[in-house]
Amino acid sequence: MKNELLGILDKRTEAYYEIPLYKDAVRAMDLRQIKAGSADFGVMSYDPAFLNTASCQSAITFIDGDNGILRYRGYPIEQLAEKCNFLEVAYLILFGELPNQTELNDWVAQITHHTMIHEKTKKFLEGFSHDAHPMGMFISTLAALSTIYPESRNVHDPEVRRLQMYRLIGKVPTIAAYTYRHSLGYPYVYPDNELSYTENFMNMLWRMVEPKYHANAALARALDVLFILHADHEQNCSANVMRAVGSSQADPFVCTAAAAAALSGPLHGGANEEVLKMLDEIGSKDRVPAYIERIKAGHGKLMGFGHRIYKNYDPRARIIKWAADQVFEATGRNPKLDIALELERVALEDEYFIKRKLYPNVDFYSGIIYQAMGFKPEMFTVLFAIPRIVGWLAQWQEMLDDPDQKIARPRQIYTGHDVREVVPIEKRDLSAALSGV
Ligand code: CMC
Repeated sequence: MKNELLGILDKRTEAYYEIPLYKDAVRAMDLRQIKAGSADFGVMSYDPAFLNTASCQSAITFIDGDNGILRYRGYPIEQLAEKCNFLEVAYLILFGELPNQTELNDWVAQITHHTMIHEKTKKFLEGFSHDAHPMGMFISTLAALSTIYPESRNVHDPEVRRLQMYRLIGKVPTIAAYTYRHSLGYPYVYPDNELSYTENFMNMLWRMVEPKYHANAALARALDVLFILHADHEQNCSANVMRAVGSSQADPFVCTAAAAAALSGPLHGGANEEVLKMLDEIGSKDRVPAYIERIKAGHGKLMGFGHRIYKNYDPRARIIKWAADQVFEATGRNPKLDIALELERVALEDEYFIKRKLYPNVDFYSGIIYQAMGFKPEMFTVLFAIPRIVGWLAQWQEMLDDPDQKIARPRQIYTGHDVREVVPIEKRDLSAALSGV
């Protein structure tokens, strides 16, 4: 039988400790018993950016980064993308099992019933400048929903929680479409509840004067698949924010606003917008090698490349290539694809990228598809946020139900001054203060 203990010899005291391993991990609190003396606080673990720290146990998403595996609730992402639609997968992620037909009908009806936003929310959106970044509008509007639904603060009532999930999943496409129309100066289009989730989103984005919007089926399916791929990704930066803010028992609207803010950064979901800017800057295939040399010389990063967990390939990037084919068949090929393919080819043959295990991630090709569909780059991260709401809500719910969890409050290693006396202002020597003396 495997000995599930870790032996630690403290060379300061020659004391020997046996620390139990829990699922191959050390519980950081078990280290606190290791002390150099009775007044000692005990050993802490130091792990900036959580490189080797599990902050929770989770049954939602499994990733094997070395082998390029991604599963939601045990189901391979490839099968889900092929055989399910987004709302089915959303149900799976939130409730643990794929729905049967009756459950799915009820789920879809509930989400569809909550697609409208309050007219006051619409007015709130109207207050933004025409050139406001859609992600800024999206984040602020999510937070503003908290003022419309104050009962959402009752986070311990499962019924209340479920209602806010319907509201959030139902309303995010509406909010996203409104931010888009606002930036173009177009009138808002109300949801059409006869359409599917993605078709209705396309209706709210692109319907002009026609009485009924008919979505291109291939584009609607490609968008649906993209939503499936983006729905959850275990403890990424924004999921971690969702859990951290939610651990204070804040309501789900402000929690998702905080998570969306984390997503907006260029190292996370904002990368898809940055990829397009990068491809524009490169301009043509023949300029790719020079661009790669610039990156290797330390001038910036190759956006859409690299991942904290995937060190082989990102399985989502493969499926995205399939979606790209479907979209380009309907829209015509985006000429930026050739630059992207060349960038991928050159990078994957280059020692710098091979050594660091840097491969295209989900954001590398998604922007090219979104652009071919007619979106401006500023909308790309909003398109990521719509399906990721599901992942954030699942992580939030799991956190609230987990008896191991408390308010998230890390420790620090203090590196500042020891105690010192305040000198009256007239006696402070500026030069001494600046030199740190
Ligand atoms: N281009 C060039 N070099 C890179 C890149 C890149 N895209 N990514 C990492 N590196 C280098 C990095 O400079 C470091 O080199 P060295 O060892 O010489 O210092 C090494 O690779 C390890 O990188 P790291 O910064 O320690 O890796 P990380 O796990 O902290 O960061 C990452 C992961 C995704 C933030 C990073 O790869 C990155 O900034 N990529 C570009 C932005 C991007 O595409 N983000 C989307 C991520 S996937 C979707 C999502 O999360 O939303």
